Amino acid sequence: MSDSLQALAQRFPSDFLWGVATSSFQIEGATQVGGRGASIWDTFCRQPGAIADGSHGDIACDHYHRLEQDLDLIASLGVACYRFSISWPRVQPLGQGAWNPAGLAFYDRLLDGLSRRGIRAFATLNHWDLPQALQDQGGWGSRDTVHQFVNYARGIQARFGDRLAGLTTHNEPWVVATLGHEQGVFAPGLKSRCLAMQVSHHLLLSHGLTLQALRAEGAREPLGIVLNIAPCEPATDRPEDRAAARLADGHARRWYTDPLFTGRYPEDVWADLGPDAPKVQPGDLADIAQPMDYLGVNYYTRHIVSAQGQPVDPQAAGRPVTAMGWEIYPRGLTDLLLQLKADYPGLPPVHITENGGAFPDPVAADGTVHDQDRTDYLRHHIAAVADALDRGVPMAGYMVWSLMDNFEWASGYAKRFGIVHVDYTTLARTPKASARWLQAFLHACQAGRG
Ligand code: FCB
Repeated sequence: MSDSLQALAQRFPSDFLWGVATSSFQIEGATQVGGRGASIWDTFCRQPGAIADGSHGDIACDHYHRLEQDLDLIASLGVACYRFSISWPRVQPLGQGAWNPAGLAFYDRLLDGLSRRGIRAFATLNHWDLPQALQDQGGWGSRDTVHQFVNYARGIQARFGDRLAGLTTHNEPWVVATLGHEQGVFAPGLKSRCLAMQVSHHLLLSHGLTLQALRAEGAREPLGIVLNIAPCEPATDRPEDRAAARLADGHARRWYTDPLFTGRYPEDVWADLGPDAPKVQPGDLADIAQPMDYLGVNYYTRHIVSAQGQPVDPQAAGRPVTAMGWEIYPRGLTDLLLQLKADYPGLPPVHITENGGAFPDPVAADGTVHDQDRTDYLRHHIAAVADALDRGVPMAGYMVWSLMDNFEWASGYAKRFGIVHVDYTTLARTPKASARWLQAFLHACQAGRG
């Protein structure tokens, strides 16, 4: 075992939670099997031009049919936890009313399989695959969906709560609101900033009401939310660039973290929104600002902002990027975590709930993938988490995005984030070199414990 691996492992406490992450629509497939209802992503994939390679989630990684094999794969990595999401339309096809026994049974098998292998389950309620039937009634733009979501969460808690090590309300509400309802590049593909801001408010409100409802029913597992946040840095030191970076940070990060931790929307963003600001009812902000047991942070890159309005392209600026064109900047993760700690003194334990990279991943003649770039990415970002720990940020866990190559939303299957390669013709899974590295690293973490 290499010294550097051991040195990195020793920087983490023994109870630090290591895991790998996936989401339902990206891996399950079986979209028309076992009574599952349609989701907004099934519909969106059928819109011409919506998905770069014209693909869809009908088969994806066929995880629904390969559950046992995938659980063995997860166990073979030596992780302590698995982050996955529950497909709302699989368990409650119309998003309200009747539950689907076959869908619930699938997650029973998943949870029992994890428990048999000694792996803790970290579930997300909404990783974007809203039942299409609810979208037909207004989706997240409608306040009724808030209440349907709370009912869905209560059903999940009643059935599965005692087997969960963590329950997340929403994954990346900014993506749902802004990419889904303002830019229209993700499901449901709508283009209205006013609607997007109302959606963001409803997502936050449904989060807060869910925490209250689940706690009232005696939920014991840790409850939280997952945000995609990145440091926004000014392109230059000029006051106009600094102001632009501050406002961009406001729209993408403080719009979510301020109401969650302080019970207020940021005034600068509210003013900037003008007539697009959401309708907020009395008591909503108090309902949103529930104490959380953890905050999940998904980190991939930083943003460099200029007053010109054009995002600065890192590749053109000669910086290293992943296959998504996202700058590789591990220090940004430490900076972001320190900023969260400075802004919110009561910051709960923080899990990095996603971190990883898409890379070209050429497959060698013998079927192996030597993804040194991904291993380096993971190693440097894990070190960035250790830096944040050293500086007093209450870090609790780190989960790699992703367990295996999967349906990368509007990019289809063209972008591969997995530490396990998936051959989409045979659906064979082959661990990449990065998976072997993670295994060795987690082994070093274990050894340090003994
Ligand atoms: C995040 C998503 C996740 C995955 C990664 C690359 O925004 O939560 O599902 O697509 O990006």
